[in-house]
Amino acid sequence: MSFPRRVRIVEVGPRDGLQNEAATVSVETKVALIEMLAKAGLANIEAGSFVSAKCVPQMASTAEVLAKLPSLPGVRLSVLVPNLHGLELALASGVTEIAVFAAASETFSQNNINCSIAESLERFVPVVEKAKQAGITVRGYVSCVLGCPYEGEIAPTKVAAVARDLAAIGCNEISLGDTIGVGTPLQARKLIEAVAREAPIDRLALHFHDTYGQALANIFACLELGVSSIDSSVAGLGGCPYAPGASGNVATEDVVYMLNGMGVETGVDLAVLIDAGDFISRRLGRTPDSRVSRAMMAQRKKA
Ligand code: HMG
Ligand code: MG
Repeated sequence: MSFPRRVRIVEVGPRDGLQNEAATVSVETKVALIEMLAKAGLANIEAGSFVSAKCVPQMASTAEVLAKLPSLPGVRLSVLVPNLHGLELALASGVTEIAVFAAASETFSQNNINCSIAESLERFVPVVEKAKQAGITVRGYVSCVLGCPYEGEIAPTKVAAVARDLAAIGCNEISLGDTIGVGTPLQARKLIEAVAREAPIDRLALHFHDTYGQALANIFACLELGVSSIDSSVAGLGGCPYAPGASGNVATEDVVYMLNGMGVETGVDLAVLIDAGDFISRRLGRTPDSRVSRAMMAQRKKA
C-alpha cells in the first residue's frame, strides 16, 4: 500500500457547515471560528459564499465576515460563487480563491442553482476567466458524485464528464462531492478511477459527507490511488440545503487523527483543532459530531 506523504486539507466548516444551520450564527462567531481554524494550522479555509441570500440566508454575512477577519498569514481563504455577480463580490472581498459549483445530476443542478448542468458550465466560463485574470485560484465542485437525493444512482462516467469540463475551463482543482454521503469505499475507488481517465488525479479532491458513516473508509480507499486533497468540516458541521437528510462533511478532527496515525502530514495541530470544534459546537448548542473530538475531550476531563 502506498499513500501520499502529505495531504492538503480544505476546511469547509465555515461554509458547507454553517450554511445549513437553522439558527443565525453571528459574524463575530464566524470570525472567531476562522481565526481558531487558522491557528490550528489549516492553510485552506472556505470562509463563505456569495450566493442569493434568499436561497442560503446563513451565508448573507460573508462580505462582513471577510472584512472583519484580521490578516491570516499563510492561509488561503476561499468562497463559493455561482456567477459573475458572485465573482465581483469575491474580488472586492480580497479572497485568493473562489469555487464554482456544478453537479453530476440534472435535478440537483436545477434545485441548487436553478439551471441545467450545461448552462452552469457555460455560466462558469467567464467567471473562471475573470478570476484567472485577477490572479486567483479556482476550484470546481461536482455534487452528487456517488448518488443524488432526487435521481438516486449516478454513473461515474457522468461525473467524469463534468470533471473533465471543469478542468477544461481552467479549474485548478476539482472537488468531488458525495453530497448525501451514500458512497462506499469500492464505489468511491471506481469513481476516482473513472474521473482520473478524464482529469489529472493530482487535481482531484475528495469532498465526502458522512451521512452513512462511510467517509473515512472512502477517503482511505481513494488515498491509495494517489489523491492528496481532502475537504472536511470541523466538528462535522453541516449538510446541504438542497440535499434533504444529508449530514455534515467528514469531521476534520477524524481525518487528521487518521492521517496522523498513518504518518501522513497535514500541518494541523489536533489539540488546537479540537478547541475550535468545541468552540463552534458550544455556540450552536451541541456536542461536536466527531468521535475523535468526543474521545479527546473525555480524556482531557479525566486528566
Ligand atoms: P436565480 O434565481 O436563477 O438567479 O438563482 P438570478 O440571477 O435571477 O438571481 C436571483 C436573486 O439572487 C436576485 O436577487 C439576485 O440579485 C440574487 P433578488 O432580485 O431576487 O433580490 N443573486 C445573488 N446574490 C448574491 N450573490 C450572488 C447572486 N446571484 C444572484 N452571486 C443562484 C441562481 C445561483 C443565484 C441561486 O440559485 C443561488 O444562490 N443558489 C444557492 C446555491 C447554494 O449556495 N447552494 C449550497 C452550496 S452547494 C453545496 O453545498 C454542495 C457542495 O458542498 C459540494 C457537495 O457537497 O456536493 C459545494
Ligand atoms: Mg458539501
